[in-house]
Amino acid sequence: MKHSTLTDTIGEALPVGAPEYAPPSSVSVETVLSVKHWTDSLFSFRMTRPASFRFRSGEFVMVGLMNGPKPILRAYSIASPAWDEELEFYSIKVPDGPLTSRLQLIQPGDKVLLGRKPTGTLVHDALTPAQRLYLLSTGTGIAPFASLVRDPETYERFEEVILVHTCRTVSELAYGEDIVNIAKADPLVGELAPEKLRLFNTATREDYVHTGRITTLIENGKLFDALGVPPLSAKTDRVMICGSKQVLEDLKVLSEKAGLVEGSNAVPGEFVIERAFVG
Ligand code: A2P
Repeated sequence: MKHSTLTDTIGEALPVGAPEYAPPSSVSVETVLSVKHWTDSLFSFRMTRPASFRFRSGEFVMVGLMNGPKPILRAYSIASPAWDEELEFYSIKVPDGPLTSRLQLIQPGDKVLLGRKPTGTLVHDALTPAQRLYLLSTGTGIAPFASLVRDPETYERFEEVILVHTCRTVSELAYGEDIVNIAKADPLVGELAPEKLRLFNTATREDYVHTGRITTLIENGKLFDALGVPPLSAKTDRVMICGSKQVLEDLKVLSEKAGLVEGSNAVPGEFVIERAFVG
């Protein structure tokens, strides 16, 4: 799965540390505050946030390391909410990837590069109002939703928020579960999140409470039956989608089949996808 690291498949691994060369002006140098390894192939990390860095919950930004005289930067969804004083990211580890092979080694105190221009379409501004918000993700595609479920605006705008996460194995679902628990315990969203936020996890390659791809569960209606809600409808539902290229395409088709119209920052609509992660 490559959607959080794009074309992270070439180059040489270099040790992590303070940049030897001056980074370009398009990035700031930030300090790693904490790192958590969730599985052999997944980790999250938090870094300092510059005072001038503004973003909307759900956006992505370039993150990276210096590689000799040049930076290696990849698009990463910001997994922390817009109000947070720190920035959080969730990443896969690509064994031979020029960025993640080194990024997975970062420790608190290390320096990382942060782009100055966050952007993206998985934002509230790109959706028209409705009753229910679906956040549909596979793998590390949950990252922008880790931001949105911790943002009070999500609960001000919607009566019900359903976060769906499909992964190959049960252990890959842990980050999303942790984020939902954090959201429900957070005083800022804590009053609304416990009653409005629901997490629906599915595993595709291991036994679990719910199994199968999110696409299959929408098509056969099992998702809606399990949640006790009516099928997808433009009248009541809005959808944000984040995953691999094929997941985006398949969920776009299913959203359109249900009558939803794609939105953008310029023209808000009924569902949005994040094309930046197409790898
Ligand atoms: P599957 O195990 O059936 O391939 P990956 O790690 O390859 O990015 O996949 C993450 C999760 O997304 C896996 O559970 C995978 O299911 C699922 N997945 C992959 N492709 C699609 C798709 N086109 N539609 C829905 N889910 C998908």
